[in-house]
Amino acid sequence: MTSTEIRNQFLDFFKSKEHRIVPSAPVVPYDDPTLLFTNAGMNQFKDVFLGTGSREYNRAADTQKCIRVSGKHNDLEEVGHDTYHHTFFEMLGNWSFGDYYKQEAIKWAWELLTEVWKLPKERLWATVYKTDDEALNFWKSETDINPDHILKFGEKDNFWEMGDTGPCGPCSEIHINLNDDLNAAHLVNAGSPLCIEIWNLVFIQYNRDSSGTLHELPAKHVDTGMGFERVCAVLQKKNSNYDSDVFTPLINAIAKLSGVKYDENLPADDKSTVGQSNISMRVIADHIRTLTFAIADGATPGNEGRGYVLRRLLRRAARYGRKIDLKEPFLYKLVQVVVDNFSHVFPEILSNKSNIEKIIKAEEESFNSTLDRGIELFDALTNKLRVKNEKIISGDDVFKLYDTYGFPIDLTAVMAREQGFSIDEIRFNELMEDQKERARKSTKDKMGSANLIQFLSNSSNLPDSEFVGYETLETEATVLRLSDGFVVLDKTPFYAESGGQVGDSGVVDFNGALIPISDTIKIGNIIAHKYDGNLSDALGKNVIARVNKNRRWDIMRNHSATHFLHRTLRDILGPHVQQAGSLVNQDYLRFDFTHFEKVSRAELKTIESLINEKLRENIPMIHHRDTPFEEAKKMGALMFFGDKYGDRVNVVQFGDFTAEFCGGTHVKNSSQIGLLKIVSESSIASGVRRIEAVTGAGVEKLIENLELRIENSESKISELYDEKKKIEKEVASLQLKEKLGGIDSIISNPLSVNGINLFKGKVDASNMDELKSMGDELREKMNNGVGVLISEIDGKVGIVAVVSDNLIKEKNILAGNIVKQVAQVVGGSGGGKPHLATAGGKDVSKIGEALENVDKLF
Ligand code: ALA
Repeated sequence: MTSTEIRNQFLDFFKSKEHRIVPSAPVVPYDDPTLLFTNAGMNQFKDVFLGTGSREYNRAADTQKCIRVSGKHNDLEEVGHDTYHHTFFEMLGNWSFGDYYKQEAIKWAWELLTEVWKLPKERLWATVYKTDDEALNFWKSETDINPDHILKFGEKDNFWEMGDTGPCGPCSEIHINLNDDLNAAHLVNAGSPLCIEIWNLVFIQYNRDSSGTLHELPAKHVDTGMGFERVCAVLQKKNSNYDSDVFTPLINAIAKLSGVKYDENLPADDKSTVGQSNISMRVIADHIRTLTFAIADGATPGNEGRGYVLRRLLRRAARYGRKIDLKEPFLYKLVQVVVDNFSHVFPEILSNKSNIEKIIKAEEESFNSTLDRGIELFDALTNKLRVKNEKIISGDDVFKLYDTYGFPIDLTAVMAREQGFSIDEIRFNELMEDQKERARKSTKDKMGSANLIQFLSNSSNLPDSEFVGYETLETEATVLRLSDGFVVLDKTPFYAESGGQVGDSGVVDFNGALIPISDTIKIGNIIAHKYDGNLSDALGKNVIARVNKNRRWDIMRNHSATHFLHRTLRDILGPHVQQAGSLVNQDYLRFDFTHFEKVSRAELKTIESLINEKLRENIPMIHHRDTPFEEAKKMGALMFFGDKYGDRVNVVQFGDFTAEFCGGTHVKNSSQIGLLKIVSESSIASGVRRIEAVTGAGVEKLIENLELRIENSESKISELYDEKKKIEKEVASLQLKEKLGGIDSIISNPLSVNGINLFKGKVDASNMDELKSMGDELREKMNNGVGVLISEIDGKVGIVAVVSDNLIKEKNILAGNIVKQVAQVVGGSGGGKPHLATAGGKDVSKIGEALENVDKLF
């Protein structure tokens, strides 16, 4: 039986028991701050169990993508070393929401295992919670299990909890004994790979709050989880999940890439037979599935939260790759294999394939260079120690290698040993503990609204809040509950923060007293408003809830514009563009998306102008609310990462331009957005770009700011211009002074021609005025004589002649006559007063000749 058949048989079985088959939720949870990754099938129904949400059916079944690498359920260290733990796995599950309970759950589980799948009854064992005689009796009355095979266990094994807080209850597990010896009581829950849990039936009846107290839930539910990969191995009679057809295509691909052989069907209970290369191949096969599914659902490797978890996983896989000589990036090549084998169940991995490959490849490349840098640092460290004749690498250095360069302690230890060093593990562990403590603290901080979650969880008798904020921004409502600064109303126009759109603010008007609301959040189906003031008298009474209209409209413009941006990015850059994150508030929109290079200025311009063209088309918005998922898919609606896809969804559509899964609030037609202006484009992680943009009033503000800047620039420019003029004048006068200084050499070298002192020379004047000034200067200084200065000015010839008063009077030598004659030589003419005259000429090549000729005039 193939794994595909096994999956289908599970679903068909529960379909025949009137269960609604629902899609898997994304592995990246949507609105649960207590979870990094979806870790159980029941996550998507948490609100139903807590009584804060409901579904239109009360029986469901699915196969849920799960990741267990952090938090309460964390199997990372086992992965690869044993045969049946994974970081990513499929959990087959069936649920009852206040409908059937222990009796049917036990009966049907037995029926599927022994009648449909025909597992040998003598190999099956059931466990029940130590005080749960009810479950024990149903095992006896509803099945023909050997009564000796029903065992009781305590909290650790038979009380299931989602996390530190949340829904929980006693459970009954089914284990299969794979040992030759049928007497396996001692193996159950003993961590033996020969006797493994395959199915957990949880009877959810409590909620645990953050103080650890259990609260009885309003209804009792069934939540089951079966390890798909384990059941496949069992039904296919394999010793290890990695030998089932869930994993063999991947293992074969890794063997082919590395040229290393995989040892099949090793005994499950003897870890010593599992060679390093088998472990490496298993780890790689496991981790690449996790990476592929997580990235497909919108997570990306990074430095925080789930991004960090993914980065560590990728590095772990890459390192194991080095052990089988896979040094160049190789993980990305395995994405195709995952896609080939699982996209018929989870199509999102196919539609995101090339993105996933690019992200993984870029991350592998950057890790390789980090690793190389780490090795350099390691060598530098050991060299230093050698000089000092020391033998121990300090815990701080080991930690630095671990924390900054991703060197796991075992790698550092091996490298140290090779070079004759040891490492200070005690100090390293201390530092690790500190880091874990910091991480724990930051998770707690992130759950800032833990009180509220608890308050709402404990308020399971509250009805769902009615959201009327799509239609109106003001309504009369009744105050149902007040706690921890939050108020819950029976209905509200306030949009609660969700899918990247911030929560509304506004006021609650209680008999004319206006109580400000600063934020709105939602847990399950209950909307809570953060208020500041005194509302205690309003409990049970009517108030008017009024959303801050302008702010909401600004938010709506930005949100609708985000849809236009998303669509246009895909049109212009390509269909690999996928939303990787989004924030929409009153001031701007921020859109993160997968793309592998900078978006050029020209591309941004095209994107912007196409969007604005569309906005002007006045396209009406249609909000399809509560539409069946399949119908929405048929509309071709784009899925937004971070949105929750139940079987009924909301789709926001603007004509045939864009349709997206979205429950946010939007403008009624595109032209209400006004104009969109992109204000920045940047990189936020490898393969992920960020665009920030403003719309509507935001553009107005932007323009105002720009105008202000232009005004400032203009006055700055005119200041600079004045300054420039002033400086130019100063420079000119300095230059003139210098040139006038040059006259001195002419003065000191007079010629005497027929008893007349003659001062002549070539000077460098910038214009006629300057030349004239030089003439004046010469005349003043020479006392008695005739002066002729010639300069080239702008490619032409300038001439000035001066005559001292005594020569004018006594000898009738006139400056005008002189320049005329000099000018003739250079092809020009001129004239002036007797004491000073100027002339122009064309032929600069004749300046020398003209100067020589001056002598002949006397
Ligand atoms: N929620 C239960 C589990 O994860 C079924 O094991």
